[in-house]
Order: sequence, then C-alpha cells, then structure tokens
Amino acid sequence: MRPTQRFGARLLPAALPLALLLAGCGGTSGQGGAAAARQGGAPAALADASASASAEADIAQAPAEPGSIADTTSAATARRTVQGALVPTSPQPNADGTALTSSAAGAIDNSNAFFTPMGNGRSCASCHAENSGWSVTPNRLQQRFAASSGADPVFRTVDGANNPNAPVGTLDQKRVAYSMLLTKGLIRVGMAVPANAEFSLVRADDPYGYASAKELSLFRRPLPSTNLKFVSTVMWDARENRTVAAGTAGASCILNANPALCYASVDSSLLTQASDAVRGHAEATRELTAAEQRAIVNFESGLVTAQLTSGAAGSLTEGGATGGPAALAAQPFYFGINDLEAGDYRTRAAFNRNVMAMFGAWRNLDAPARPAPGQRPPAQPAQASAQDVARASIARGEQLFNNRPFTINRVAGFTDQLRVPNRVTCSSCHSAPNAGSHSTPLLVDIGVADARVRTPDMPLYTLRNNATGETVDTTDPGLAMQTGRWRDIGRMKVPTLRGLAARPPYFHNGAQNDLAGVVRFYDRRFQIGFTPQEVADLSAFLRAL
Ligand code: HEC
Ligand code: HEC
Repeated sequence: MRPTQRFGARLLPAALPLALLLAGCGGTSGQGGAAAARQGGAPAALADASASASAEADIAQAPAEPGSIADTTSAATARRTVQGALVPTSPQPNADGTALTSSAAGAIDNSNAFFTPMGNGRSCASCHAENSGWSVTPNRLQQRFAASSGADPVFRTVDGANNPNAPVGTLDQKRVAYSMLLTKGLIRVGMAVPANAEFSLVRADDPYGYASAKELSLFRRPLPSTNLKFVSTVMWDARENRTVAAGTAGASCILNANPALCYASVDSSLLTQASDAVRGHAEATRELTAAEQRAIVNFESGLVTAQLTSGAAGSLTEGGATGGPAALAAQPFYFGINDLEAGDYRTRAAFNRNVMAMFGAWRNLDAPARPAPGQRPPAQPAQASAQDVARASIARGEQLFNNRPFTINRVAGFTDQLRVPNRVTCSSCHSAPNAGSHSTPLLVDIGVADARVRTPDMPLYTLRNNATGETVDTTDPGLAMQTGRWRDIGRMKVPTLRGLAARPPYFHNGAQNDLAGVVRFYDRRFQIGFTPQEVADLSAFLRAL
C-alpha cells in the first residue's frame, strides 16, 4: 500500500488565462483535459476547413524566405521540397558517429501532418528534426539561422524568443532575442503559477524582463518525438498526463496504490499533446482534425532512434553488441516493466538493476589474450586495437550504469516518497530495459533547477510557502507548476536515454553541453567519487546509446 501518491489528481486552475496559448509544447492539464473532451465531438466541428485551406495557401504562395530553400539543414524546409515522397531514414552524423531512426512505416512519409506548416509557419519538425535525434541542437539551429537570416519558422517570438515582446526587426536584434534557442536549443515555456498553489512567487529575476506570476518563463529542451514507445510520462513536468478513474478503458494504474492512481493511456496524452502543440508553438487558428491528430501520433509513435556507429568503437551492432535502432525496436516495454518499487507488473519478478544489456560481449576486449592452458604467455602480449579499447570502455560504462552504487539525498519524489533504499545506481531511476526511461510516472528533483547551479542566462524564481513562509529559489518549479504543491518543486520526469549523442545539450534546461558533463553533474550532486576512468567509461557508454 502506498500512502502517498507520486502525483495525484491535478489541480485544475479555475480560470485558464492567456498563458495557456503560450504554454510550450502542449498546454496544462486543464487544457489537455478540455481538448480530450472535445475529441469526442464531431470532427467536422473541430476543423475549420476554410481557415485551414487559406493557411495552407498562404504558405504555398509565400515567397521563399532568403536562403530557406537552399537550407538543407532545416528538416522542415527539406521535407517541404519533397512533399508527398516516402523517404527512407538514413544514418545522421553527430559529434560521436551516426544515429539512425527506424520507422514502423518503413520510411518517413513527408506528407504526414507532422511536417505540415501551420499557423506561424512552424511544423512539428521545426523543433523535432530527424538530423537532431528528433529534437534540435544549437549547432543546427545556428546553421538554420545563418542560412535563413533568422527567418526559419523556428525563430518565432511566441516561445522561440527569450521575451515574446523582444524586438526582432534587424538581424542583430534577432540574434539577441533568440539567444537561448541559438546557444542551448531552449524553448520558452510560458506558464502561470496555478491558482490555489501552496506557494506564491515573491521575486522573478528574469534577465529578459518578462516573467511574472502570470507567466513564468521556463526554458526547456524539446523532448525527442521518437522512442515514444518507452514513455510513461509526457512532457518534462507530466502536464500531458491525465489521471483517470480506475477501470477507465486503456488506463494504467500504479500497483497497490491507495487511493487508486490511474493514468490515461500515453496514446491519448499524445493526441492532446499534438493539438496543444499546434495551438501553442505554431499559433494555429484552428484545431487539428481528429484524423490529423491520429496521423501525427501514429507517425511519431512508430519512430525508434539510437546511435548506430561511434567514431572510436565503430559499429555498435558488431561483435555481439546490440546497440542501434533495430534491437531497440524489438525491445519490449509496458507500463510497470521492471518497476523499482513494486517489481515487474506483469511477470511479478523483482526489480532487476541490470537494465542495460547491450555491450556485455565487449567486456575485456582490451585485456591481453590469456594463453591457452599449458601455453606460456607470449613475451610481448599483443596490444588491443584502438577500436577494442573503445569497445571495452563502453562495456565498462554499461556495467557502471547498472551496478555502481551511490547514495542520494534530498531528491524530492524519490527519497521522500518511494519505499526503496537511497543507495541507488543509475538504473534505479532509468530502469526501463535498454531504454532508460521509467515505466511508471516517476518525477524526481535531482537538482538541475537548483539556484546553486543557475547560470546567469536563466531566470531565477523565488517561491514562498504560503503556510510556513519558507522560501526556495529555482529556475524551474517543474511538476509543482501543475499540482501547485510545495513538495513537487523541481520534480521532472526521468527521460529516455537513447539517441543521446544526436541531441546535445542535456537536462531539461540544456545545462550540460556533453555527456561527460552530465556524469560530472551527478558526481558533484551526490558526491559519488567517480574516478576519471569511470567518468570516461560512463560517458562513452551514454554516447553509444
Ligand atoms: C517551437 C518548438 C516546438 C514545436 C513546433 C513542437 N514542439 Fe514538441 N516539444 C517542444 C518542447 C520544448 C517540448 C518539451 C516541453 C516541456 O516538457 O515542457 C516538447 C515536447 C514534445 C513531446 C513530449 C515527448 C516526451 O517524451 O514527453 C512530444 C511527443 C512532442 N513534443 C511532439 C510534438 C508534435 C507532434 C508537434 C507538432 C504538432 C510538436 N511537438 C511541435 C518543442 C516543440
Ligand atoms: C534519482 C533518479 C535518477 C538517478 C539515480 C539518475 N538519474 Fe539521470 N535523470 C533523472 C532525471 C529526473 C533526469 C531529468 C532531470 C532534469 O532534466 O531536470 C535525468 C536526466 C539524465 C540525463 C539527460 C537526458 C536528456 O535527455 O537530457 C542523462 C544522460 C542521465 N540522466 C544519466 C544518468 C546517469 C549516468 C546516472 C547515474 C550516474 C543517472 N542518470 C542517475 C533521474 C535520475
């Protein structure tokens, strides 16, 4: 029996103000619920056919933005030029090798609504690009900015600018206005402190002079619109998850929760997420039709992305290794698989911390060959090849991920709520087999939004507990912006860990430029004491995912 809920029924703000229209990729729970309710209505009523026709005509007739056609780095633009074609996915280069997406449909259908520009010219692909692990990266954004003189539709003030009222008349103004997008690939998610929250905003230290209690500016990385089959929680703060009554069709319930705690299916969350994204990011003046919603979710749900090759280690599918998207596509996942607390929901097996099991065959490849029994060791043992050395490092990293214990403290959502020891491994939270997500909605505060690690480009918010007067400084209240609960401040979902090398920087706010930085963050936060070799091995492993 679980006395406390991970997060319970969402508080629905009575009035849903303007902030909703601005609220990042998808709205708040209230909006999601409303959109879901509307789905039951007649699709014809949802689609304003004339508005959609004219919106598309506008795009078709718009003169080519300078450089936009030639800008092959812009996924959206490239797709538009070959609209209607089925394009096979191909390995996409990144700093550590290549990543590959596999699509359940066999190829990428460019005519899918995912690639259709809406409202302000953006499509989903403006922020979820195949060449960037279905997110965006500062490098490619800078290329898109240069090639289009800042006209690429990702550069829109609504949530692309640091301040939605920033002047963007000249190229120099644009460079300043879109600096968070250009330097860290961050989108501004605008969100109001919920009515009835247990806390109030007492100070907004916003370097861009915009944020207030009416609308906090939360700078967040686009989560990848791939590998969604491993997701139990939609959005960093779970705002597209809906709790439903036990027994609701398609619902998934936390085992042994008392009172019952059940979530609507991820599929239904993704449907409302798509609508909310079109309203929010793309400033569309009409709803997606039910058919468009379905097509987008079918498309994105069929994508699987993983690193395929590594510069140093070569193919990640050779020599008995099972990296790459093909094995990942075959990887089972369901709500409650390998749950840390309750064990596996279906098999009833106890939690297994050996979550990652792809590179075991590469262990000890760098060790000198043992002489056969009865043979003398050679005077000069053969040197392992550079590739074998790199492969052995990845294999050690996988073992560290699964088995290197460390103690966590003050992790809201974990140390105060789960009935498990605080002695953990990376795989305690990143526990979905070979995926690294968490198979039930686990939102925890590992300290990424703490004032201690704030960089000057991030707004800092001072929140006061209405009951106790206690204050806390944070750059992002996370789940607390949904529930209004003090103890939920800073809680974020446990993200999936595949295709990482394709989409730096990392964490919800892009605070770490590379994966070694992520490992060092954990080392500092929890005083783990990783050796330099452990940092190298663990980050080599993460780069190979
Ligand atoms: C302007 C950039 C932008 C556009 C356009 C955009 N997104 Fe997003 N997307 C984001 C950001 C930022 C997040 C994370 C927001 C958060 O968690 O607060 C996100 C999150 C998501 C997620 C959640 C994934 C997960 O693991 O929880 C999905 C799915 C998604 N987007 C799909 C879409 C679809 C479908 C469209 C088009 C209808 C779209 N996005 C358009 C920026 C964008
Ligand atoms: C207590 C739970 C927990 C543990 C233990 C944990 N993580 Fe995480 N991990 C998270 C959460 C939550 C996030 C998202 C945090 C954020 O962005 O605010 C995250 C994010 C990440 C990311 C960034 C992913 C992205 O898309 O940006 C990586 C990489 C990662 N973790 C690797 C590790 C490694 C390696 C370890 C072990 C040293 C580890 N994690 C241990 C909960 C955990």
